[in-house]
Amino acid sequence: MTQIFWPSRRRMLDVLAAALILGPASKALAQGPSTLKIATIGAGNEGGALGTIFAKLGHPVMFSSRHPEQLKDLVAAAGPNARAGSVADAVAFGDIVFLVVPYSAVEQIGRDYGKALATKPLVVDVSNPSAARDGDALAKWVDEQGGAGLATAKLLPGAHIVRAFNNFGHNGIHGAEVLTNPPPGQTVGVPIAGDDAKAITLATQLFKQTRFEPVLIGGLAKGKYLVPGSVISGVHTPDELRKIAASLD
Ligand SMILES: NC(=O)c1ccc[n+]([C@@H]2O[C@H](COP(=O)([O-])OP(=O)(O)OC[C@H]3O[C@@H](n4cnc5c(N)ncnc54)[C@H](OP(=O)(O)O)[C@@H]3O)[C@@H](O)[C@H]2O)c1
Repeated sequence: MTQIFWPSRRRMLDVLAAALILGPASKALAQGPSTLKIATIGAGNEGGALGTIFAKLGHPVMFSSRHPEQLKDLVAAAGPNARAGSVADAVAFGDIVFLVVPYSAVEQIGRDYGKALATKPLVVDVSNPSAARDGDALAKWVDEQGGAGLATAKLLPGAHIVRAFNNFGHNGIHGAEVLTNPPPGQTVGVPIAGDDAKAITLATQLFKQTRFEPVLIGGLAKGKYLVPGSVISGVHTPDELRKIAASLD
């Protein structure tokens, strides 16, 4: 006898609810959970790991950087759903764009692609400011804006931003390693922050497909906590994240 596997009622309701409110991405989402096209701007340790997760889940993925010809090995490892292109190609390709570059590159990306990025229903801001890598002046400017979430919103005006996947790193383990090898047998929460309800809904739908359970900790102003070394950094269960989030100012 042929067996038909129906998605759970909860899953169907999630997909329908998101499809009703999501505008441009709704058609793809309604067709199935794995049809959204994902672009990454930046395809290093973190962008490579994130894109690979979504390619393996069945999403068409385009990795991009200033040197896409150097991404052949990454594309081969990520499998048949992955490809590489220029940043312009990736911005045109993605329903959803992950921004995974050194923070010092965000201003230029906003200048060159900000208009196009503002048309996307979701830009996932994975980039973290680091005084050591990006310089003291940029780190100070980010602080003056109220932290990484609000600073990225200034650099990408009009974009529907959710900060996520910023701070799994802990005890010398990089966040990208946690993405690639999450602790077995444990539900790992991924704290997210955003101001745009539709973008948060879409991010939640998308991230629920992964090993990581999204936990909304607040608006983009809370993005200042989604950086390495903060009280919410490291690997936590969703309940632990909710408890920590409740204590944040
Ligand atoms: N590594 C982690 O575990 C981790 C975890 C959470 C968050 N993050 C954050 O994610 C971001 C990337 O970190 P990473 O470790 O993946 O760095 P990485 O390995 O050095 O990769 C950076 C990527 O960004 C690209 N890139 C740099 N400038 C660019 C520009 N102007 N336009 C387009 N692409 C550009 C680089 O390629 P080209 O130089 O060829 O353009 C490269 O593909 C950082 O902000 C970091 O703080 C990292």
